[in-house]
Amino acid sequence: MPWWFFRRRGGSALSTDVTGRTGGKGWRLGEVALPRLQGRRRYLQEQPYLLPKDLGEVNRLDFQHYMLRAALRGNYLAPIGQPRRILDVGCGTGRWAIELAQQFPQAEVIGVDVEQAKSTSRMPSNYRFVRGDVLQGLPFEENTFDFVHQRLLLLAIPLAAWPGVVQELARVTAPGGWVELTEGGISPNDFVPCGPATQQLLDWMGQLAALRGLDAEGVVMRSLERYLAEAGLINIQRHFLGWPIGDWGGRLGSLMALDFKEGAKAISAPVAARFGCSEQEVLKIIEKARDEWDTLQTRGFGMIAYGQKPTNS
Ligand SMILES: C[S@@+](CC[C@H](N)C(=O)[O-])C[C@H]1O[C@@H](n2cnc3c(N)ncnc32)[C@H](O)[C@@H]1O
Repeated sequence: MPWWFFRRRGGSALSTDVTGRTGGKGWRLGEVALPRLQGRRRYLQEQPYLLPKDLGEVNRLDFQHYMLRAALRGNYLAPIGQPRRILDVGCGTGRWAIELAQQFPQAEVIGVDVEQAKSTSRMPSNYRFVRGDVLQGLPFEENTFDFVHQRLLLLAIPLAAWPGVVQELARVTAPGGWVELTEGGISPNDFVPCGPATQQLLDWMGQLAALRGLDAEGVVMRSLERYLAEAGLINIQRHFLGWPIGDWGGRLGSLMALDFKEGAKAISAPVAARFGCSEQEVLKIIEKARDEWDTLQTRGFGMIAYGQKPTNS
């Protein structure tokens, strides 16, 4: 049987615990992710995931990928050597995984996501997409991958589910292999200084996130190291990320501002629906926030943390 043969974890211990859900919000986890249209955007209905799944978001995620790669001068920080099997969890457009497949042509690379993004670009022969829901347990045998990567699932994984999810990433990691996590935050502590329009925007986003059990306080980003340690990983390192948001910060600042602005616009319809205002009003606040980032010289923060599975595990 080929190594990538995957299985669903029957009666997953994760299916209730890892989601951390209290229930009753109208979506059922672990089922096929059905889309829902709101305004001009398309969202998953059966997941806590807040952002849209449509062409506009594909473009934003690709743009964000290139920006992060430039800002970090690479696609990862862990000392992974020459991995033979690589997994990207919540792979989005697959851009990161495809680049890893190109960088390590001898490796087998898998991108897993609840839904495959439509793509016109040619895939390297050592890359494949697998549908999977990390909240239900990954559809892979334990000790399979030398490098497991997960980036920006803040608005997808409920706060209470994080420890279980990171344990799941560690489960599929081979002894001696690495897990790397990259996250940002949507709390006022993650946009400093934070002007009144930015505060309003983050407050809306935070309330919407909290309704789904998602982290609105920047807790996840600051707990990555602990999650890795609790999952039994060793040699843990973490790196604070800090960057300018706005034209005052040169090219990187302008790109960051565009990314945050488009990210906020991506949920303007659900925000308007939830808080009883028009989408135009939400878009106006987003524009005001964009101006504030320049006048106040706002900075944004994020975190990368990685750890290694002990060889004797
Ligand atoms: C903000 S995007 C980040 C994509 C990619 N990691 C990147 O950095 O470009 C989050 C991705 O996680 C996926 N996702 C959401 N919930 C998920 C789940 N429960 N299991 C697996 N993937 C999930 C979404 O479909 C989306 O593609």
